[in-house]
Amino acid sequence: MQLFSSPASPFVRKVRIAVRELGMEAEVEEVRTPVSPAERNADYATVTPLRLVPSLRLDDGLLLQDSTVILLYLDERSGGGLLPAGAARWEALARHGLAQGMLEAAVAMRYETTLRPEDLRWDVWIADKWSKIADTLDWFEARPETTAGRFDMPQIALASLLFYLDFRFDHRQWRNGYPRLAAWAAEVSERPSMAATVPHL
Ligand code: BEZ
Repeated sequence: MQLFSSPASPFVRKVRIAVRELGMEAEVEEVRTPVSPAERNADYATVTPLRLVPSLRLDDGLLLQDSTVILLYLDERSGGGLLPAGAARWEALARHGLAQGMLEAAVAMRYETTLRPEDLRWDVWIADKWSKIADTLDWFEARPETTAGRFDMPQIALASLLFYLDFRFDHRQWRNGYPRLAAWAAEVSERPSMAATVPHL
């Protein structure tokens, strides 16, 4: 399988962590793929017209897009472990959705504050994105059970988000408001899957 990948993307990081947590490194070849909303990657357009990373090309040629879909595929293919079965599966996917929503808000903020010309930036919109992230972090901070147990799909998404905040929004110092999540982040940063996937340019 080929993983089209950019080392700064937190969505890519979710997949890179999952590959390692599932022990699938030998099955996944990473193809570094520059993507930017400001520049069309014509080569990558021949792989996917959306030109989004991550995408995963399966051995039969099918291209899976969206980190959530890719994680579900890898989990099923490897025999599972990133999601529980039964009703607990939906609870875990609900938590994953909250972490994913924060990731989408953070990346949107990143584009707004770096790519958009300064005189066109909309502070109210940026503040709304940050307050959604802050409110959702409050939700996780208040629920120790969400970071207990197996390092599973929702926890992978949450960890990707917290370290993306360090990478792109260090000035916001998120740890000051969320001591329990900060302690958990320190713990999971020791995992080989986290250490091997630290975002960089
Ligand atoms: C970033 O550089 O922050 C980034 C890169 C690719 C996708 C999303 C974010």
